[in-house]
Amino acid sequence: MAKQRRELFKTKIGMLLACVGSAMGLANIWMFPARLGEFGGITFLIPYLFFLFGFSSFGLMGEYAFGRKMRKGPVIAFESVLAEKTNNPILKGIGWFPVAALIGILSFYTVIIGWILRYLVLALANSFPTMEEVFFSSFAGTPANIPWTLAAILVTALIVSLGIQKGIERFTTVMMATFYVVVMIMVIRALTLPNALHGVAAMLTPKWEALSHFRIWIYALGMAFFTLSLGGAAMLVYGSYMPEETDIPQTACQTAGLDLLASILCALFTIPAAFSLGINPQAGAALLFIAVPKIMTNMPAGYVFGALFFLCALFAALTSSIVMLEVPVESLISKFSLSRKKAALIISLLAACIAIPLNFDMNVFGTFTDTVAIIIFPLAAVTAGFLIFWVYGAQKALDNINLYAKHKIGRWYAPYMQYVFVPVCLLLVIAGIFLGGL
Ligand code: ALA
Repeated sequence: MAKQRRELFKTKIGMLLACVGSAMGLANIWMFPARLGEFGGITFLIPYLFFLFGFSSFGLMGEYAFGRKMRKGPVIAFESVLAEKTNNPILKGIGWFPVAALIGILSFYTVIIGWILRYLVLALANSFPTMEEVFFSSFAGTPANIPWTLAAILVTALIVSLGIQKGIERFTTVMMATFYVVVMIMVIRALTLPNALHGVAAMLTPKWEALSHFRIWIYALGMAFFTLSLGGAAMLVYGSYMPEETDIPQTACQTAGLDLLASILCALFTIPAAFSLGINPQAGAALLFIAVPKIMTNMPAGYVFGALFFLCALFAALTSSIVMLEVPVESLISKFSLSRKKAALIISLLAACIAIPLNFDMNVFGTFTDTVAIIIFPLAAVTAGFLIFWVYGAQKALDNINLYAKHKIGRWYAPYMQYVFVPVCLLLVIAGIFLGGL
């Protein structure tokens, strides 16, 4: 039987937007504006830009290039690298670890997408003005969110089961393009609210003393890591679908740049709007599900903007959940020659089995989310970093990165990734455990 050819991204823009969609997610929407608020606005940008472009994007290049070279996802790619060094089946199966980490993230992500779907429907029904502040706590962490969680899994599975070009590339392109256009409209609306420019001025006023706090550096590092989905699986799989002649350094910089643009646009909406309406922009779920409905209730034409905001949040989260499902699906297809639809069904059922119990108790949800996002995911990044830059070889990774690059990365890359990148990934895991959050 002829070996089936791997399906690749069809267009350059589709490939880039799929990668940006994987990167851009809840971290951009519900963490970035809050971090700006917490650490003196623009001051947070200093360590963040440093880690995003000086650190994480080099890891991203490594994942993209390794994936393109191997033309497989983490399970087979790491197995074939390790097969040259060991016969131990457990060690050779280490590629399942980053895959499992992503299934964990997918599971809690679909719970949150469930909340977003519910709020989108509430926004469309114009329910925010009459909604009590306690609505969120009466809904989240209860079985009422289960149908919404299942809907999130279903939508993700339908897109993934259509394949790379007809499913992932087509849908992420539409969702990402819509996201940027709609968020820009929302930014213009927010900036033209009374007093909004004071919010911007507050954001632009540096607070230099914040830089002396250890936490600002660790939070910036953690976010730069999480936002680029650097867990040794998601970006590696997208790399494996990149056409041969892809300029990897350019694609990695564009991914990080567009991801940053999305974060800044989200902040330029949330902070001025909250400032203008005298609402405190908070972190995490409290921003999305408590502060935003309040902002929308008090904002002229809040009905329209509330719906648009949750539509954007939905697209941002779905374009990330798609890659989180694609990775284990690709693993089952590559390892066990399953059909795409069957693989999508199996992983969706598994994700549902994990996600449903997360809807019963917010404490369980919180502990699960923190463990996966703060410990397991960075640990998967350490594992992948070690395998790519130490076992496969940093010099080989660099050669692959530079293969079709217009601006080539210098020889410093190999020692930098071995002696700085991998140990700093490990530091992130340790810091996450000690700080109890990133
Ligand atoms: N990169 C995705 C996010 O930022 C996972 O949420």
